[in-house]
Amino acid sequence: MKKINRRSFLAAAGLTAAALALTACGGSASSTASSTASSAAVSTSAAAELTTVEAGKLTMATNATFPPYEMTTDSGEIEGIDVDTAKAIAEKLGLELQIDDMDFDAALLSVQQGKADIVMAGVTVTDERKAVMDFSDSYATGIQSIIVPEGSDITSPDDLAGKKIGTQRGTTGYIYCSDDFGDDAVVAYDDGLTAVQALKNGQVDAVVIDNAPAKEYVAANPGLVILDTSYAEEDYAIGMAKGSALEDAVNAALEELKADGTLQSIVDKYITAE
Ligand code: ARG
Repeated sequence: MKKINRRSFLAAAGLTAAALALTACGGSASSTASSTASSAAVSTSAAAELTTVEAGKLTMATNATFPPYEMTTDSGEIEGIDVDTAKAIAEKLGLELQIDDMDFDAALLSVQQGKADIVMAGVTVTDERKAVMDFSDSYATGIQSIIVPEGSDITSPDDLAGKKIGTQRGTTGYIYCSDDFGDDAVVAYDDGLTAVQALKNGQVDAVVIDNAPAKEYVAANPGLVILDTSYAEEDYAIGMAKGSALEDAVNAALEELKADGTLQSIVDKYITAE
């Protein structure tokens, strides 16, 4: 009742993040460059009337600890699928993208408090969040995955009962696990990587987190595996304040980016199909 597609226990075998992203976005990867200029021109008239938190800018709240959607490079730059997508949307709206990096729970609040125009942070659409903020159309599918040490006796979501579960604070991973297994069973860390480090140190038995960052964390941390059975399936969308005047323009821009293949080419840039 609370969540759509909760505990769907879908077998993730063969369902890679790339495949999901492909399903979600459609379109071909090759048609980007030629169509950018003309579609930018189409949207410019609408942009003149847009009021944003800071004039002339599209302010995006995010939490850049979530590869490949948003991450911080060694040189301190923020990049990723959400960043490139937000840049493309801003361009279509005739605005300059301004990125505000903060904790994930703060990023959700930021739009609600009128401090940012959009939150783009691999944000899952949930009924609870829809009660306090608006969402654009979905731009990707997410999956809550379970990371365990190799050889763990946890082999399915049900095996999480009685275990300590690490999550990122404020995420659906935290919310689902505390609903299902109780608050005491779940530890909330500042970010996913810290949760994964706690797993490596034996402080938790499993980490529940979105599949795309899970794959990156596991690739960088030998000895960990992602279970084939997922915990939940979700939709990612752009969050805005309730009643935001930007919603139609953001959806129109997103629609164009889906249709002309830009979104797909951004996904392809950051997620290599296996
Ligand atoms: N999809 C999950 C949620 O919305 C986790 C998102 C975390 N994003 C981030 N940038 N740290 O709750």
